[in-house]
Amino acid sequence: MKKTLLLLLIISITIVQPVSERAAARTPVRARHAMVASTSEVASRVGVEIMQRGGNAVDAAVAVGLALAVTWPAAGNLGGGGFMMIRRADGNTEVIDYRERAPLAASRDMYLDKDGNVIKDASTIGYRAVGVPGTVAGMALALERHGKLKWRDVVDPARRLAAEGFILNYHTARSLRGSERLLSRFPDSKRVFLRDGKFYEEGERLSQPELAATLARIKEKGPREFYEGETARLIAADMKANGGLITAKDLKEYEPSIRKPLRGTYRGHEIISMPPPSSGGAALIEMLNILERYNLSELGHNSSAALHLLVEAQRRAFADRAEFMGDADFVKVPVEGMISKTYADEIAATIDPERATPSADIRAGKPVAYESDQTTHYTVIDAEGNVVSNTYTLNGGYGSGVTARGTGVLLNNEMDDFTSKPGVPNAYGLLQSENNAIAPRKRPLSAMTPTIVLKDGKVYFAIGSPGGPTIINTVLQVIVNIIDFEMNIQQAIDAPRFHHQWMPDEIRWEPYGLNNDTRAALEKRGHVFAKRSSSMGDAEGIMIDPKSGMRLGASDPRSGGVPVGY
Ligand code: DON
Repeated sequence: MKKTLLLLLIISITIVQPVSERAAARTPVRARHAMVASTSEVASRVGVEIMQRGGNAVDAAVAVGLALAVTWPAAGNLGGGGFMMIRRADGNTEVIDYRERAPLAASRDMYLDKDGNVIKDASTIGYRAVGVPGTVAGMALALERHGKLKWRDVVDPARRLAAEGFILNYHTARSLRGSERLLSRFPDSKRVFLRDGKFYEEGERLSQPELAATLARIKEKGPREFYEGETARLIAADMKANGGLITAKDLKEYEPSIRKPLRGTYRGHEIISMPPPSSGGAALIEMLNILERYNLSELGHNSSAALHLLVEAQRRAFADRAEFMGDADFVKVPVEGMISKTYADEIAATIDPERATPSADIRAGKPVAYESDQTTHYTVIDAEGNVVSNTYTLNGGYGSGVTARGTGVLLNNEMDDFTSKPGVPNAYGLLQSENNAIAPRKRPLSAMTPTIVLKDGKVYFAIGSPGGPTIINTVLQVIVNIIDFEMNIQQAIDAPRFHHQWMPDEIRWEPYGLNNDTRAALEKRGHVFAKRSSSMGDAEGIMIDPKSGMRLGASDPRSGGVPVGY
C-alpha cells in the first residue's frame, strides 16, 4: 500500500513538472519587472538602475552599451559598431544598424600586395584595419527614436565608471592579459590596458581617465562630438600620423541606418532577426526552415541523428552565405529567396539522412584554422514589455589593437569582415564572395544575429551572442533547445554547442560537449571533427514566462556574465 502511494506520488510529481524543472540544471534569474542580461555584472546593474529611475529598455540599452565600453574593453566599445534590434511594447520593431563603414579612401584591393596576394595582418591589426565607428551615433539614434531619458543621463554612468574605475573580475583580467601580443604593439593601448606590462589582476581597480574625458565631452556636447568635435579631431590626427585611412570627413559623414528586421517562423513561433549587412538572420531562418521538416525532439538532444541534421543544415546555409551575402545597400542579396519555405524544401531534399555531404560537393573552397575572437551581446526587457536585443563589436578582441591617441578609445578591425580577396579565408576562416568586396562607405558583411522570438504574438524570448560565424549557430541551438527540447533559457544557453560553417569542412565542438559514442556515430556517417575542442559564444538572453509575465534572465557560463533584474 505504502509502495503504491509512493509510486503515485512520484508519478504525479513527474507529470506535473515541466521537463526543464526536473533536470540537474541551472534555472534563470527571475524578476517581476525588468531585466538586463549582459556579460558584465557592473554593466547589467547600470541598465537596471536606469530603468528604476524611470528609463525604458532603450534608455537602459544605451547606458549598458556605453558602460560595456568601459567594463568589457575587449568588445564593448565606442570605436566599433553593431546592431540594436528594438521591439516596442506595441509590437513595432526596427533595427538600428550602426555597423562600421569603409573609409572613403578604401578600395577593393587595399589588402593585396603587388602580386595580388593578401598582405598578412593588414586587415586585422593596426590603423588600416579600422572601419569608421558607428557605436556613438547608433546609441544616440536609438535614444532619440525610442528613449525617454536625456542623453547626458544615459552617458553619465559610463563616464563615472571610467573616471572612478571598477573592480576587474576574473574574465576581464584574464582577457586583458591574453591580449598582450596585440595591445603591446601600440603605446597607448599598452599603457592603458596592460599598465605597461604590470598586468592588472582580478580584484584590482581599472580606471580609464582619457576615456572618462572623452565620455565627458560626449555627454556635455552631445553624440556629434565624437564625429565632429575634439574626439573626431584626435582620431583623425592619430590616423594621419600612423598611415590610417579615416579622415575628419569620414567621421563627419558617418550615419547609422534604420532597417526592417527579417521575419520567419519555426514550429508556430515567429522569428524576428537581423537583415543585411548581417548574414545572421537569413542564415538562421534558412536553417530553421530546413530543421522544421524533422522531428528533432524525437531524435534526442545532441544525439548523433539530431546533430547530423543540424550540421547538414549549417553547412548549406553557410555555403549560401559565402556565395550571396554582402551589404544590400550596395549589392543584390537574395534574402527573400533564402528565407522562403520552398527554398528550404529544395535544400532539405539534398540532405542524405544517413551520410554527410562533403562541403566540397556543395561548393568549392579551402579550409583554414580559426582564431580567437570577441564581440558582445546584451538583452534588455523593461516593465512595459519593450525589448532590446543588441550585438556590437570591435570584431577581434580589442579590435585593431589601436587606442586612438588621447581618447582612450579602442578602434575596431572590422575591415577584415570584408572579402580581402575572393577564395581567401578571413580571420574566421570564412570564404566570401565579390558581393562583400570593399568599397567606400560600404558595410562589411556580419554574422551578428540579435533575435527576438514570439509565441502567440507575444515576446517569448530575446537572444544573441558573440563568436564570429559561430554566432548564427549559437542562436540557432538556443532556439532549438527551447522550442524542440523544452529547456529553460538558462539550460538552453548552457548546453554544449556544435558549429559547421561549410568551409572548413569540419564540426567544431566544445570541451566536454561530445562523447566518444556520439562522435563515432557521426564519423561513421562521414563527418569530420576539428582537431581540438574550443568554447563557443557568450549568449545573453531573457525569456518572458508566458503564464506569470516574470522576466527570466540567463547569461552564458562561458564568460561569466550576470543577469540583473528587479
Ligand atoms: O560582425 C561579425 O560577424 C564579426 N565582426 C563578429 C566578431 C565576433 O563575434 C567576435 N566574437 N567573438
